[in-house]
Amino acid sequence: MTTGMTVLIEFLYLAASALFILSLRWMSSPKSARHGVWAGEIGMALAIAGTLLHRTPEGGALHYQYILIGLAAGCIIGVPLGRVAMTAVPQRTALSHAFGAFCVTAVGIAHYYSQVGEHIGKFEMGVLCAEVILGSLTFTGSLMAAGKLQEVLPQRPITYRGANLVNLSLLAASVAVAIYLILNPGQTSLFPVIVAVPLVFGILMIIPIGGADMPTVISLLNSYAGLSAAAMGFVLNSKLLIIAGALDGSSGFILSVIMSKAMNRSFTNVLFGAFGQVQASAAPGGEARTARSATPEEAAGILGAASKVVIVPGYGMAVAQAQHKVRELYDSLTRRGVDVKFGIHPVAGRMPGHMNVLLAEADIPYDRLLDLEDINADLPQTDVALIIGANDVTNPAARDDKTSPIYGMPILDVDKARTVMVIKRSMSPGFAGIDNPLYYLDHTLMLFGDAKAFVGDIVRELGHGAH
Ligand code: TAP
Repeated sequence: MTTGMTVLIEFLYLAASALFILSLRWMSSPKSARHGVWAGEIGMALAIAGTLLHRTPEGGALHYQYILIGLAAGCIIGVPLGRVAMTAVPQRTALSHAFGAFCVTAVGIAHYYSQVGEHIGKFEMGVLCAEVILGSLTFTGSLMAAGKLQEVLPQRPITYRGANLVNLSLLAASVAVAIYLILNPGQTSLFPVIVAVPLVFGILMIIPIGGADMPTVISLLNSYAGLSAAAMGFVLNSKLLIIAGALDGSSGFILSVIMSKAMNRSFTNVLFGAFGQVQASAAPGGEARTARSATPEEAAGILGAASKVVIVPGYGMAVAQAQHKVRELYDSLTRRGVDVKFGIHPVAGRMPGHMNVLLAEADIPYDRLLDLEDINADLPQTDVALIIGANDVTNPAARDDKTSPIYGMPILDVDKARTVMVIKRSMSPGFAGIDNPLYYLDHTLMLFGDAKAFVGDIVRELGHGAH
């Protein structure tokens, strides 16, 4: 390859790496997130362009016909995958990790068998083993996670006695064989072991984890996929892959930590705790409790008379696709001089940033969206907390009841507002499957109905009141 071409490829890779870093930086704020997506896409296009300029080891052109077939197959699968409903994004993301991990594993296997006649150094063999082990377990683990989230596999944790011991033994066996292979790279008959055993480990690692923990597990698998890609970068001597894989690995890990913290769970508890089974909802002690309900007209009257309102969106807003009606409600109240803010819980909905994305889609100003700590300081001075399809993230039992399965999870203190109004269709529990004592408080009003329809009715009533 000519020096000019090598310089061009290196330059494209450098630009791609810089764009990946900027992309992550920009995606950390809703304001700049769109730029982040563009930077990531342009970075990936440059990386692909640089890769296509490579020559074969013999110095010939790449076999573009095979690449075109791969590109066409990727587009046929990828385009419909990009069009899934927002609520299905977690399982779609898990599938992407499975594809990435499959690709990394396949490249690792091909590299080993194409190089095996030649001398493979200890370092190269070490990173090759890391690539294949992480890739294989991420492949099956991500498929299991996607299956659980799509509910084609049972969501409940499937446990058996000694499960953790079996899993750790499988992992230890893979590492032992990997060490042996590093010392004896020519032992080709052992290589399939470090592919097959982690494939089984990936399945067994995920089945004892409940559906509720899957989003956290997915970001952890994202991290593994990134680390396996970084290992592949060392094997293929690609700085771009090392940088992109390390970014992916570290950001996935940080996200898992943030999510675990927001649910007050430790990592070990998520991975080994078999939490997340849906529990029966029952009022503690079995005493009869009553909840008061109100009509859209009554709700509009209370909201119209308030001076400070905090709206707390949750998973139900996403299901009902109520964000545009919520925007109309925001406009209607703001026109009346009501101060409207939004309280965003880090794990409201079913994926990180779920509420931010929906509210951004409806063009709600970013400065009206407040994090947990900031909005909790405001709630005691708030006239009305309006909860739209949120449940667990507002459950006072997480704060007050030491026996609650979600005790310790930080919540939005909506019960401290003067009036609480909750839009949901029934008294059914949320994702954690537990009853919410908020609904039985004296100052709580239940607004039963679909979020989009109910918010629409309130907006109409507010409009009538204004004329
Ligand atoms: P949930 O606790 O799941 O509550 C959502 C509520 O929305 C349900 O109680 C449901 O009640 C209501 N709902 C459903 N469809 C509706 C519709 N069309 N109209 C009106 N209401 C509707 O949601 P949340 O408060 O957002 O909490 C999120 C949960 O997911 C937490 O337990 C969290 O730990 C978990 N989780 C989240 C994440 C991330 S990253 N976001 C990750 C892992 C786990 P009805 O059936 O009565 O309508």
